[in-house]
Amino acid sequence: STAMAKKITLVSGIRSSGELLLGNYLGALKQFVELQESYDCYIFLADLHAITTPYAPKEFPEQVRAVARTYLACGLDPSRVTLFRQSDVSAHVELSWLLNTIATMGELNRMTQFKEKSEDQKRESVNAGLFDYPVLMAADILLYQPDVVPVGEDQKQHVELTRDLAGRFNQRFGKTFAIPKPLIRDEGARIKALDDPAKKMSKSAASANSYIAIGDDSDAIRNKISRAVTDSGSEITSGTDKPALTNLLTIFSQLEEVPLKEIEQRYAGKSYKEFKDDLADMIIAALKPIQQTLAELEAKPDYVDDVLAKGAAKARPVAEQTLVAAKRA
Ligand code: TYM
Repeated sequence: STAMAKKITLVSGIRSSGELLLGNYLGALKQFVELQESYDCYIFLADLHAITTPYAPKEFPEQVRAVARTYLACGLDPSRVTLFRQSDVSAHVELSWLLNTIATMGELNRMTQFKEKSEDQKRESVNAGLFDYPVLMAADILLYQPDVVPVGEDQKQHVELTRDLAGRFNQRFGKTFAIPKPLIRDEGARIKALDDPAKKMSKSAASANSYIAIGDDSDAIRNKISRAVTDSGSEITSGTDKPALTNLLTIFSQLEEVPLKEIEQRYAGKSYKEFKDDLADMIIAALKPIQQTLAELEAKPDYVDDVLAKGAAKARPVAEQTLVAAKRA
């Protein structure tokens, strides 16, 4: 009877703009790897989203492959997961156009990611793709009729918009889309910048000291963790008045997979230095196998291209079925 039961379907993507960070790993990738065992997974490289912010055209294709390698090195198994490039499945763009006609300027104007990413630019020169980004994201999701969308906290608003658009479409044109739920972990869904715990860990930060990239070497990791800001006082405890330590403790507990309270107990009465040295070692140890696999994958470029081609071939008919239903409706 279990063979008859429909597996839970999951969709998620990561922008292929440069190196992935520890935040992406803990907020998203690690979750994908755990869920691939039991869910029907569609995971893609959001290259069309990546070109809404500045990029180098010549280096871009290789950058997309590098992100694909990172997915694989983190443990995504292409025999379980449909792993593909967004731009290889044209239904994403086509459905986004249909959804554009029911999305409003007002809703898109309220998106905090748009506000953040456009805040340094003149309103008149912000590209329309950056504004429309969440509608493409809605199409990415709805095409696969998923139950859940595992993301970090910062993408929650986009998933809620997706739910609103799906509901509106269904109401106007007849039931076409499943309405998915965001799947956000209790801890690790919002890893903060090492130099400012009020901000999220992000590659758009001014200083590379604010983040740990998955490819960072041991020296870089030790250096960045030793410089990471802490809070007032000297105890290693979490809490709303201790945003910096809460962040470091969260990283520690997520990587070691033990409750945060246990780490607090372990470091009761110990110094920041001892804690930070151990944290750096923990991060180095966690990233080492990923970095080793990354190096192996770099040596076989055809393998990654083959995985992505097969993934696109599997995704296309599924996406096409929903697109046809949406057009008909
Ligand atoms: P992106 O590429 O910015 O981030 C990829 C995933 O990593 C999560 N994340 C974090 N989690 C915890 N702490 C952080 N500091 C942190 N920074 C990033 C993000 O929440 C995300 O889950 N718009 C998406 C990509 C996308 C997508 C989709 C996602 C395009 N289409 C459809 C889901 C479904 C984005 O820019 O994520």
